[in-house]
Amino acid sequence: MFKRAFKYYQSFFLLMLIVYACSPTSAYRIRSFLFDGVPDPNEVIVVNIDSTNNSIDSTENNIRLTKPDFYKHPPYAKKECSSCHDRGAMGKPKLDLPELCYQCHEPIERQYPALHGPVSSGQCTMCHSPHQSKFENLLVIEGRNLCLNCHEEESITGKGIHLNITEESCTKCHNPHGGHDKFILQKETCFNCHENKKPVNEYQFVHGPVAAGECNLCHSNHDSSSENLLIIQGNNLCLNCHKTSDIIKSEPHLANKKQMCTRCHDPHLSNNQYLTLNLKKDS
Ligand code: HEC
Ligand code: HEC
Ligand code: HEC
Ligand code: HEC
Ligand code: HEC
Ligand code: HEC
Ligand code: HEC
Ligand code: HEC
Ligand code: HEC
Repeated sequence: MFKRAFKYYQSFFLLMLIVYACSPTSAYRIRSFLFDGVPDPNEVIVVNIDSTNNSIDSTENNIRLTKPDFYKHPPYAKKECSSCHDRGAMGKPKLDLPELCYQCHEPIERQYPALHGPVSSGQCTMCHSPHQSKFENLLVIEGRNLCLNCHEEESITGKGIHLNITEESCTKCHNPHGGHDKFILQKETCFNCHENKKPVNEYQFVHGPVAAGECNLCHSNHDSSSENLLIIQGNNLCLNCHKTSDIIKSEPHLANKKQMCTRCHDPHLSNNQYLTLNLKKDS
């Protein structure tokens, strides 16, 4: 399978090498997964017989083989090979990526202001099989390993990530295609789970960066070793944006120079002017 696939991929692979060598992304590893996930349509499907499972349907007394579950791409399942390949040149896509996919799918750049690297370079098949896959969404690999194929594990997970939600998937926070900024996050990402930080009407006062949905101006989601995932601990977090000279002008500050800002202010939301804490609604 590998050898045969290699023939088809040889030129594609060389091209990829050139692209990788010339781009700032050359540090990313190119793995053999390039060859996986695109099952040969002529390949004999190996049938799994799960010994613990009922492979024999006793009611009908027929042997029922449990086939691996494949998610099939509709045009492939319907044998509309010609929507992607010219007859006589089967195996060679008839258009470049991503145009091949955009014959039927809405171009991704229309959906997001910022695109993920491999999407902007049209490498859809680095993540999706065009034919079929045993994973949902025709993915070539499942879960975080899809991402860690290109992103160095050490630099992403080295300091830990926001609790252990990455055990589920990186896509709990990142959109694999694009987002509102280069970090390919949705403004709503954090609110999916932290609804109580959402600037809703019951809070009259919302802190500037929270109103902008920019949680990452204060939180570092890739460093779970820091308390509350803060990028800077203590008052320097606040003084990163607020000038000390402005702060010390007012009465309460002059009298409490050494105190933590968060002793008196909520960093997120409040129904008190100046985000002060005492009358803060319970969140
Ligand atoms: C949605 C587009 C699409 C459809 C439909 C499609 N293919 Fe493909 N096919 C591709 C792409 C893209 C590649 C190259 C894979 C890559 O770049 O990773 C490919 C690769 C191949 C290859 C060579 C690689 C391999 O799998 O070993 C063969 C053979 C092939 N296709 C046959 C078919 C046949 C037969 C059909 C119809 C039953 C079909 N394809 C339908 C897009 C498609
Ligand atoms: C000939 C039309 C056609 C082309 C070309 C095509 N697709 Fe699709 N694709 C479909 C249809 C139809 C569906 C099912 C409806 C939907 O989800 O939009 C689908 C669904 C998908 C899905 C979701 C599958 C799931 O499990 O929900 C993915 C991922 C996908 N396509 C990727 C691609 C990629 C990558 C390419 C290019 C290599 C491509 N498609 C090219 C028609 C096409
Ligand atoms: C970095 C990996 C990656 C790349 C590159 C990628 N995708 Fe996806 N795609 C995903 C994942 C993961 C999902 C599953 C949905 C989710 O988790 O948000 C998905 C879902 C989809 C779906 C079905 C759901 C939807 O959003 O409509 C389509 C269609 C699709 N991708 C098409 C494409 C096309 C076309 C390209 C190339 C322009 C592409 N993808 C490039 C990872 C990728
Ligand atoms: C095919 C390789 C590939 C895969 C797979 C991949 N990425 Fe990427 N990713 C890239 C490239 C290339 C960039 C652009 C890097 C740059 O511009 O410095 C990038 C950029 C990013 C960025 C923005 C980083 C920055 O500093 O601009 C994030 C966040 C990201 N990827 C997350 C993910 C997640 C989450 C997944 C899995 C769903 C994933 N990536 C899968 C190649 C990949
Ligand atoms: C809790 C949400 C969350 C999860 C889960 C998450 N990220 Fe991130 N990621 C972020 C945010 C927010 C940023 C923006 C900068 C920051 O906060 O460090 C980011 C930044 C990045 C960057 C660019 C900056 C860098 O450190 O190079 C990459 C690449 C990245 N994430 C990949 C991943 C991968 C791969 C996974 C899964 C293993 C993942 N992320 C899981 C929220 C998350
Ligand atoms: C999939 C759900 C989920 C998503 C998405 C998510 N979180 Fe969380 N987060 C949690 C859970 C669960 C906890 C622990 C319980 C709690 O304190 O609410 C938590 C805790 C936290 C904490 C406290 C950590 C500590 O050390 O005590 C911070 C800060 C945080 N999240 C920020 C964010 C930010 C910023 C984002 C968006 C980039 C985000 N979260 C996205 C589920 C999520
Ligand atoms: C201006 C900086 C700043 C911004 C922006 C910010 N936070 Fe925080 N966050 C903090 C600080 C400081 C703490 C530590 C708690 C404290 O001292 O009151 C914290 C604590 C948290 C906690 C854990 C404790 C709690 O209150 O539940 C969560 C969850 C959290 N933030 C989520 C978010 C989310 C989601 C966003 C984006 C909507 C966000 N934060 C934006 C500064 C910020
Ligand atoms: C990323 C930049 C940033 C950081 C970090 C930051 N702030 Fe702010 N803060 C703002 C912006 C922007 C406003 C809105 C300014 C305006 O509306 O005039 C604001 C407004 C405020 C206000 C209300 C001022 C008013 O006149 O209504 C208070 C109080 C405040 N911040 C306290 C804090 C505290 C305490 C911290 C640390 C936990 C902090 N800020 C960290 C950017 C920041
Ligand atoms: C002892 C409680 C307390 C502490 C500690 C405190 N503040 Fe305040 N802060 C207040 C009160 C009360 C106001 C309302 C101002 C007024 O009524 O004049 C205020 C107002 C503000 C304002 C808006 C008006 C102005 O004076 O500029 C900002 C911004 C602010 N604080 C930031 C900070 C930062 C940053 C820190 C930490 C370095 C901090 N505060 C520490 C109580 C405190």
